[in-house]
Amino acid sequence: MQTIETILSRRSIRKYKDQPISEEDIRTILTCGMSGPSAVNARDWSFIVVNDKEKLSDWASHSGRAGNIIGNASMAILVCADTSRSFKGAPLYWAINGSIAAQNMILAATDLGIGSVWLGIWPQEEKVNTQKEYFSLPEEIIPHSIIAFGYPDEDKSGVPHKDYEEDRVHYGQW
Ligand SMILES: Cc1cc2nc3c(=O)[nH]c(=O)nc-3n(C[C@H](O)[C@H](O)[C@H](O)COP(=O)(O)O)c2cc1C
Repeated sequence: MQTIETILSRRSIRKYKDQPISEEDIRTILTCGMSGPSAVNARDWSFIVVNDKEKLSDWASHSGRAGNIIGNASMAILVCADTSRSFKGAPLYWAINGSIAAQNMILAATDLGIGSVWLGIWPQEEKVNTQKEYFSLPEEIIPHSIIAFGYPDEDKSGVPHKDYEEDRVHYGQW
């Protein structure tokens, strides 16, 4: 699939087939997550990969409403910021770097025919604390987002992505 086609056809997928994702595809998804730009090349992310069904169920039962999706997924990845690696001049770049990693993984999965959805964690304090506690994360590690993955069990291929929004674009001046 071409990159532009991948971007334009991607939709959030929340229902998944009971079909595992291969180690090779997991590796490709993670490699793409690690291949985006990051401010001063800090690469200040870490990933917790869960693809064991029992562990997914347990994680789901500790994740509130997002748990409905995690429990049904073949894999979910907790994208974390490792703030010990963050750029000291502007530490909050970790949030942008984590978002780029998350989106790259989503696009890689789309290209592989694997559906996914972004489940927001940061900056919702309660969700951050819940994930921090569940995974016993060290102080410097901040949970950023959960991306759930699985082979699609819903068809959104006929639903095109948003149209170009003319009024959002300003040429040369506001
Ligand atoms: C930061 C962020 C947080 C999100 N959190 C959730 C969430 O908690 N639950 C959910 O079902 N979808 C979540 N989504 C997915 C959005 O709902 C979805 O991207 C949006 O409705 C547009 O649909 P599309 O992805 O199919 O284009 C989130 C997306 C982003 C970028």
